[in-house]
Amino acid sequence: MNVLKPILVAFVLSLTTIGIAQSKKQIPEVEALLKKMTIDEKIGQLNLLTPGGGVATGSVVSENVEAKIKAGNVGGLFGVASPSKMKIAQDIAVKQTRLQIPLLFGSDIIHGYKTTFPIPLGLSSSWDMDLIKSTAQIAAKEATADGINWNFSPMVDIARDPRWGRIAEGAGEDAYLGSAIARAMVTGYQGDNLTDANTMLACVKHFALYGAIEGGRDYNSVDMSRVKMFNQYLPPYKAAIDAGAASVMTSFNDVDGVPATGNKWLLTDLLRDRWGFEGFVVSDYTSLNEMIAHGLGDLQAVSALALKAGLDMDMVGEGFLSTLKKSLSEGKVTEADITNACRRVLEAKHKLGLFDNPYRYIDNSRPAKDILTKENRDVARQAATHSFVLLKNENNVLPLKKATKIALVGPLADSRNNMLGTWAPTGDVKNAITILEGFKNVAPDATITYAKGSNILNDAEMAKKINVFGPRVEISKESSEALLNEALAAAKKSDVVVAVVGEATEMSGEAASRTDITIPDTQKKLIKALVETGKPVVLVLMSGRPLAIPEEFNLPVSILQVWHPGVEAGNAVADVVFGNYNPSGKLTATWPRSVGQIPVYHSMKNTGRPAPASEEFQKFKSNYLDEKNSPLFPFGYGLSYTSFEYADLKINKDKISQGEAVEVSVTLKNTGNFDGEEVVQLYLHDVVRSITPPNRELKGFKKVFLKKNESKEVTITLQPEDLKFYNSDLEFVAEPGTFEVFVGGDSNASLKKEFILE
Ligand code: BGC
Repeated sequence: MNVLKPILVAFVLSLTTIGIAQSKKQIPEVEALLKKMTIDEKIGQLNLLTPGGGVATGSVVSENVEAKIKAGNVGGLFGVASPSKMKIAQDIAVKQTRLQIPLLFGSDIIHGYKTTFPIPLGLSSSWDMDLIKSTAQIAAKEATADGINWNFSPMVDIARDPRWGRIAEGAGEDAYLGSAIARAMVTGYQGDNLTDANTMLACVKHFALYGAIEGGRDYNSVDMSRVKMFNQYLPPYKAAIDAGAASVMTSFNDVDGVPATGNKWLLTDLLRDRWGFEGFVVSDYTSLNEMIAHGLGDLQAVSALALKAGLDMDMVGEGFLSTLKKSLSEGKVTEADITNACRRVLEAKHKLGLFDNPYRYIDNSRPAKDILTKENRDVARQAATHSFVLLKNENNVLPLKKATKIALVGPLADSRNNMLGTWAPTGDVKNAITILEGFKNVAPDATITYAKGSNILNDAEMAKKINVFGPRVEISKESSEALLNEALAAAKKSDVVVAVVGEATEMSGEAASRTDITIPDTQKKLIKALVETGKPVVLVLMSGRPLAIPEEFNLPVSILQVWHPGVEAGNAVADVVFGNYNPSGKLTATWPRSVGQIPVYHSMKNTGRPAPASEEFQKFKSNYLDEKNSPLFPFGYGLSYTSFEYADLKINKDKISQGEAVEVSVTLKNTGNFDGEEVVQLYLHDVVRSITPPNRELKGFKKVFLKKNESKEVTITLQPEDLKFYNSDLEFVAEPGTFEVFVGGDSNASLKKEFILE
């Protein structure tokens, strides 16, 4: 028996191995190729380089790229400037290397390729999943027409700190909405079949928790409890994986003290073992090497650690390329570790059909017919109009009549360089429509007097930091006084003033964190002076983040938040200002009154000492001496030119058992003077449970169009999983008890009903 035992164990183990191998559905073509590959060739596939011409977001750029491709040392390239360069690179890979393995071509197509859509934070404010999906489909069609087959998007990092510039790149603060958007984008990019020439691999990023960096300072550390992670930050990544995202990019930050790029719990235990992810994992730009600065060891040590943790591809750093063979010979990694990573990269190439045709995405006939077409631009215009959020409409000044005298002022009113927004490296500012042009297009009968009015900011040092990708902040030679006087003169001879103000493009985005998120002083002065003229003032506010604007809000002005609207900026802004489209956007991240309130978001908890509902300060309660707890604009907030009334909230059951769905319905009436769309939002409060519940959490929404005076019954179904949360043991459960349901037009919704889960 004793003699037999090891044999039996070995037999069982081999069966298990076969079992695992079978469950992973190995691809014979890939397995055959792996058998032919030397260890160097395998390591080569794990290397992702950028030959320059794109955006270098770190201090290292790749060198001798051609020679490295020829030597079989490259698995893919990104940021390649043109399709002809991709063709040359692919030629080298498939004609001049021993095994002729084609390259992947990656890129950052975050909100459109050449047809630039609004920044993602803006796009999310549309709450329109079909629209968001169609922007992703168009991005895929255009990018693949230019040879790209792998997109470093969607960025699904939950962000609750508007100091962080990259809040612009995601869908805001909420896991439920963020998950829906993640699904829409992944399915938009990848379509039904990745071998279709107009689909590309999605790459969900940045895994994980990048949006929770301390103090909103880019690249900073993250420390978070598991229950918070699972309930509030991880769902969008998981939704993207469940939707079939083919790849994952790690984040720069650490999680539980281990940099994400080398975090085995994250990349293997959670991502692969718990979530069943079968695609490949790429590092962020040199994030592998950055583990040295994080304090985890030298390049060889961190590379071995990252490979063992589950990283498959190394972006730019060449840590894998330069050290893995040595680590193999020293027993620090195994050949199986390398083979597994290589297999995943090859499988992605197979999914794209690159082994059948390495030039599938390099087709000269496509760019002219697929890129920046009239139809694509129409969607960009529609997406932009749907992303705008009407924050205030003083005396219902908006929409403006088309034949009026308008002073169109402000440093962003005629600023082509600032329309596309952050992370639009493939877009071309030359194609963007300025607000001034849009006004002329949409309201040709208006008398428009333009004046810049002020600089975006007057601080030359700050301007230099912002202008890395081109002149976003241009400080005029004219004095501030002269600029202001010109704007005031324009205001005086007009019926209404439209001031386009806010942030330049690169004031948000990567490495663009701010501790002060107010409108810069120069523009504040302009706004106040315009108000003093007594003319009605409309602020068209641009930004890549929620701003703190209590001062402007208290002025008698109207405020239309337009983010950075993309290539059709001017036309879209004019469409909304002149009433061709009635705004329907709703905020997807809370707008604080001041930086001191951050973090402030809708799903905060009650605490043991909640502040009084009146917001009167009370000693020994959870409040501030100098500020209210409530934000300036809550999550989900946004006005319309019409008004909506909610009534008659109903739930189809008072009591349900586990596994049952609940139908919630409400009557929505358009009570104003315009046809319009409303985002009906459902929030849930799990009153008693084993871990402290948020006061309310978004658990359903529907965007509804109503003609004026029309009313409709809107039904939202709560699925059994909508009642679930991750408990202290990280089990996804619904606990019996009372659930309160709130329905309305923002997260302060007051209509309330309850039901009991038995
Ligand atoms: C960013 C990623 C991006 C990568 C490649 C990094 O700096 O964090 O989002 O995909 O650069 O351009």
